[in-house]
Amino acid sequence: MTANKPILVTGDRPTGRLHLGHLVGSLVNRIKFQDDYDCFFLVADLHMLTTHYDKVGEVERNTLEMVMDWLAVGMDPDKSTFYVQSQIPYITELYAILAMFCGVPRAERIPTLKEKIQDMGVGENYSVGLLGYPVLMAADILMFKATKVPVGEDQLSHIELTRELARRFNFLYGEYFTEPEPVISETSRLVGTDGNRKMSKSLDNCIYLSDDPKEVEARVRTMYTDPNRIRADIPGTVEGNPVFIYHDAFNTNAEEIEDLKTRYRAGKVGDVEVKKKLARAINELLEPIREKRRFYESRPGDVRDILHEGTRRAREVAQGNMDEIISKMGLFKP
Ligand code: TRP
Repeated sequence: MTANKPILVTGDRPTGRLHLGHLVGSLVNRIKFQDDYDCFFLVADLHMLTTHYDKVGEVERNTLEMVMDWLAVGMDPDKSTFYVQSQIPYITELYAILAMFCGVPRAERIPTLKEKIQDMGVGENYSVGLLGYPVLMAADILMFKATKVPVGEDQLSHIELTRELARRFNFLYGEYFTEPEPVISETSRLVGTDGNRKMSKSLDNCIYLSDDPKEVEARVRTMYTDPNRIRADIPGTVEGNPVFIYHDAFNTNAEEIEDLKTRYRAGKVGDVEVKKKLARAINELLEPIREKRRFYESRPGDVRDILHEGTRRAREVAQGNMDEIISKMGLFKP
């Protein structure tokens, strides 16, 4: 947390526990970024409300579960700032300011809006808040003057809008914001255990970071593989096969993977063996994460303190930036 490192903002909506897709898609990168960037990791509870404004009863538990996963994988509150978005009123203030010069048709053209409208089944009757989703995200990012924003591919259009709004602000009120750069991870999408292209809670095709060894074994045992391979002596396809995608992603024993692939292609290995070895590899990877998570599970007060302290720090930084924004704009501050 030193002043002269470049600033990075990213985060997640608090919808519950995190899974292997999050691990390879974003968490692993965040851990690396922590040394070279001043990282601001937000719990995007206002973004969660854009679609789940009626699910407020779950937000506290979901936030704590998610932050325990962050801590368990090695996101480090001594290096980075963890905070709750809704508790930084300056973000909401900046959101209101940016909304003034974001055209409605521009916001309507954001591709994720259509998907969300469909998922929610609200038709034409979507909310101002949902339309403003990417504007709020721009406020998250610009509030801390971030120059790097690691996101999933699906969020790229939001970063593009953020850059436009930064440009527009600078044009209107004078040079202030730097246009932030998105960072997309190489493995931005992990296939689900059912072979669906994305691991996702709503599809029930996940392996959670907090799953115990038995749960992992059960998930792997029922995993989708090559559907044409109805017997172990039929040659199978490795490419695009979820079981082998997972071996490549999670098994650290390269020799074992090569051996399994060779025998699979030749029809000389059963699915049971391939999956047993996969479950073992995933469990090896998850064991230290589970152990660290258990530590925080037994200390819920520590998790709250971490969020409390991070939110306090983020609020302080945001307040300083908001003062600059207000004077840049020439608003009257009596
Ligand atoms: N919308 C992002 C997602 O669903 C989460 C998010 C909210 C975010 N604010 C952000 C990501 C700011 C990066 C920067 O994944």
